[in-house]
Amino acid sequence: MPSVVIVYHSGYGHTKVVAEHVHRGVASVAGVTAHIVSVDELPAPGADRSLGGQWPLLTQADCIVFGAPTYMGGPSAKFKEFADRTSGLWFKQQWKDKLAAGFSNSGNLSGDKLSTLQYMSLLAAQHGMIWISLGMLPGNPHDPATPNRVGSNLGLMSQSDQASPDVTPGPGDRETARLFGVRIGELTKRFKS
Ligand SMILES: Cc1cc2nc3c(=O)[nH]c(=O)nc-3n(C[C@H](O)[C@H](O)[C@H](O)COP(=O)(O)O)c2cc1C
Repeated sequence: MPSVVIVYHSGYGHTKVVAEHVHRGVASVAGVTAHIVSVDELPAPGADRSLGGQWPLLTQADCIVFGAPTYMGGPSAKFKEFADRTSGLWFKQQWKDKLAAGFSNSGNLSGDKLSTLQYMSLLAAQHGMIWISLGMLPGNPHDPATPNRVGSNLGLMSQSDQASPDVTPGPGDRETARLFGVRIGELTKRFKS
């Protein structure tokens, strides 16, 4: 069965909520398996370069979705640490021709999330992966309930206030994440067939 793995880092839980909604969208597509993995479950390679933890899930996946908060204008250090740990896989081009996509959450509406998405798409390109864009027309920026209110294209952008992840990011961003998951699941299925 086609499989999608969502790999994310979240320092304070907001990006985790977004990851869960992307996961929900992917899982709703019949005939597609969806997994969600925190970068904390992906340990550094062993002395023999072997990869333990949940790394085999990524090796087997048809699509890997990257998720990180934007910290200081780029992906969080923990996400970058995960990315650096893929260099052995890059060397053998073991992720070549898998599908890839990305999302980022930040405190400001822009918050320079584009930089994080650009980094993720470059990471995918280094691995020879095929990038899935957001594929949604811009929503109404004055109505936070509409999907893609931020007007992103390269990937999913969401915004959270300084409050609990129970309430922020808001329902529009959560729905955008779910719809993005549906798109990713459907494209993975089509790609595999
Ligand atoms: C170290 C650090 C750097 C941050 N840098 C940015 C930034 O560049 N742009 C922005 O909009 N928000 C920034 N923020 C706010 C976070 O992006 C925001 O709180 C986000 O929701 C955190 O996601 P998380 O709960 O998944 O960690 C920063 C937060 C931290 C802790």
